[in-house]
Amino acid sequence: MTSTPTARTFPMPAPRDAACPFSPPPAYTEAAATAPITRAALPDGESCWLATGYAEVRTILSDRRFSADARHPGFPMLVPGRREALLANPSFLRLDDPEHARQRRMVTGDFLVKRVEAMRPGIQQIVDEALDRMTDGRTEADLVADFALPVPSLVICLLLGVPYEDRDRFQGLSRTLLNKHSSAEEVQAASDELREYLGGLAARKREEPGNDILSRLAVRDDLTPDEVATTGILLLIAGHETTANMISLSTALLLDQPEQIARLADPAALPGAVEELLRHLTIVDHGLPRVALEDVELGGTVIKAGEGVIALISTANQDEEMFGGADLRPADELDLDRDARRHMAFGFGVHQCLGQPLARAELQIALATLFRRLPGLRPAATGEGRKFRSEAFIYGMRSLPVTW
Ligand code: HEM
Repeated sequence: MTSTPTARTFPMPAPRDAACPFSPPPAYTEAAATAPITRAALPDGESCWLATGYAEVRTILSDRRFSADARHPGFPMLVPGRREALLANPSFLRLDDPEHARQRRMVTGDFLVKRVEAMRPGIQQIVDEALDRMTDGRTEADLVADFALPVPSLVICLLLGVPYEDRDRFQGLSRTLLNKHSSAEEVQAASDELREYLGGLAARKREEPGNDILSRLAVRDDLTPDEVATTGILLLIAGHETTANMISLSTALLLDQPEQIARLADPAALPGAVEELLRHLTIVDHGLPRVALEDVELGGTVIKAGEGVIALISTANQDEEMFGGADLRPADELDLDRDARRHMAFGFGVHQCLGQPLARAELQIALATLFRRLPGLRPAATGEGRKFRSEAFIYGMRSLPVTW
């Protein structure tokens, strides 16, 4: 049975409400309240389907009839003018199996839970040293610049074999690539510069390999130099931007709700608390784009072959049936006692986040250590105050002045 979709069309990407910086854009919650599948208007004038319901999002992300390959003409573009840059050198994030699996397999070993568990002492040391520097002779800091960004940047640099001294360059280029307002020319220039940087690094590592991911990729004969650079770019950006934003947003949110901070001090509750922060904040808030390869009936709506769809994990993660409970705060609020394990903040299906064990370890160590070492941590009224990164595809913070 099929039904006619709702007449409402929702604009993508939609802005956040500045008064509710930790909630998804109001247009998305409105869409979710309208129907689990609605229509969305894209900035290039095209339209696509918008899946907001938990079950529908889960199906789209795990059903092979939906493709993540941006080369399909109907693939929804959240920013106009990006298709060229995306198509020139697609990373495995934007490829389907078997090519996706072939390239992903080359780096899965580096992010396995067992491997990441062995990294915990090293991550703890990086976190401790960042806090030592942040607090040394000072009583105020910008938590983003002094803690949230340096910790995951240094971790991914060490893993990849990228010199940390080059962080200003790659962090700046990442910001351009993730900025919704960057022009097509700016995106192309940033992408070319990052490619040249990582490609050059990989070429040197091919001659003199080290014990790092980029070296291991560079010496392979079954990857072209372009594929090595593309995977390097994906890991470098995904590895620092996401986790940095989760650390700063989680801190800002907890400073607003200090009664919940104590949960982080209980080692048994810490992993669950981090899952709830991931669910509630769902920083990939504008969703995951896909295109249907054949006609698929979903929630009473037929998505035709060639039509685009955006799987909105931010609304799916607020599903009351899935995440609500009698003794809990509503699913659109933070409740560190909630069992949030079925959230999709890391996606779902074959493209599910490769770095999630690493992100979890970094978040658990960074947040627990921050609040243990600085029990008096609170917002500081310096500079321009706390600033959110609503211009970015991955939601986060630009600055978070704190004192202790
Ligand atoms: C809190 C932090 C993070 C969040 C919320 C996050 C979120 C996501 C999401 C939603 C996807 C799925 C995209 C899709 O299906 O279209 C994804 C994929 C991916 N993430 Fe993460 N991520 C995080 C941290 C990391 C880290 C630390 C790395 C390490 C390098 C990483 C590497 C990747 C890669 C390589 C993919 C592509 C996987 C594939 O296509 O098979 N992520 N991430």
